[in-house]
Amino acid sequence: MEEYLLTSRLEKKTKGKLQKQICQVVLDHFEKQYTAELGDAWSSVRDVLTSPWCWQHALLLNRFSPSPGLESSLAEQGYHPAFPAALPYLPAAFRCYSRTAPGRFPAQKHQPGRLKGYYLLNAASLLPVLALEVRDGEDVLDLCAAPGGKSVAILQCACPGHFHCNEYDDMRSRWLEQTIESFIPDPLVNLITVSKLDGRQIGDLQPEFYDKVLVDAPCSNDRSWLFSADPQQAVLRLMQRKELSSLQFQLLRSAVKALRPGGSLVYSTCTLSRAENSDVIKLLLSSCSNVMPVDISGMARAVSQEFAFLSGTQQHELLVLPEKGRAWGPMYVAKLKKVQMSSDQHQLFFLLI
Ligand SMILES: C[S@@+](CC[C@H](N)C(=O)[O-])C[C@H]1O[C@@H](n2cnc3c(N)ncnc32)[C@H](O)[C@@H]1O
Repeated sequence: MEEYLLTSRLEKKTKGKLQKQICQVVLDHFEKQYTAELGDAWSSVRDVLTSPWCWQHALLLNRFSPSPGLESSLAEQGYHPAFPAALPYLPAAFRCYSRTAPGRFPAQKHQPGRLKGYYLLNAASLLPVLALEVRDGEDVLDLCAAPGGKSVAILQCACPGHFHCNEYDDMRSRWLEQTIESFIPDPLVNLITVSKLDGRQIGDLQPEFYDKVLVDAPCSNDRSWLFSADPQQAVLRLMQRKELSSLQFQLLRSAVKALRPGGSLVYSTCTLSRAENSDVIKLLLSSCSNVMPVDISGMARAVSQEFAFLSGTQQHELLVLPEKGRAWGPMYVAKLKKVQMSSDQHQLFFLLI
């Protein structure tokens, strides 16, 4: 009873605080665009996105810093393992907990020289990492890596031969370095390179170098845009939204160049916008003859209890739609493979271009 009163008081406080901050101009823009793109599904997605008090958080445990008693304490508070054994390639050490009830587990402070026990995140953020299927010894590039949640998650799944984490923005790159310092122990840190390059250049700088590339692209982050504090800045961002698709496409082109033939890439965004999701992938597939879609519908089926997906998407993509009780996403994920071309195909390819 006491706990209920506390939760309800907290809910009211959060509600009062956050409801005021919804940016009407963004909401109106989304209303128009997403009603057209998602149809009936939009109104329930909108209800979740505009109700931060029903947002959920998951915990990704750090396999390099086990905290005794943490898992039993999570179980007592109603948390359960978010990714069931249905994903057989997941190592036993990969542990993520979520619960249907909203509320946030306390965050851990950064303490130099001390590893954190868990990373708080939107559980849908793990889907691009799971789709990437990194194996021990592979050379991996995280093209747009800050603040580093997915880099940390990749290292919970496998131990790459070399792991390149890139972030263009100076301040965010420092944040990325701090995340790595907080979660990854010394011997493993030696496998990681952090760079501050424009991701669009990495393909030319390191052609055919990587087995796996993650392009977690800059996008119109629907959740945070809805709570923009400055309406003028929000209008500007909405006007410049079209430019994002072009940046995303260029990042993808660079990622394809950086991949070895036979290697694969995962593209992800946290927006519902078709222009930044399926349209970008369609354009890439139609303009790069050495790229093929990879079926990820098996993975989507395996986690379908935890996530709600938009129906009618292609087999190589998925879109997580937030809904009450499964308030994860938005998260778009697509997987592609760079194909090995025979010399005949190669000659034909150059004759055609
Ligand atoms: C969606 S966030 C990445 C989140 C990160 N993957 C994680 O899980 O913590 C996209 C990032 O791309 C960065 N970015 C923007 N333009 C870029 C570029 N041209 N090259 C590389 N990174 C870029 C942004 O600064 C931002 O930090």
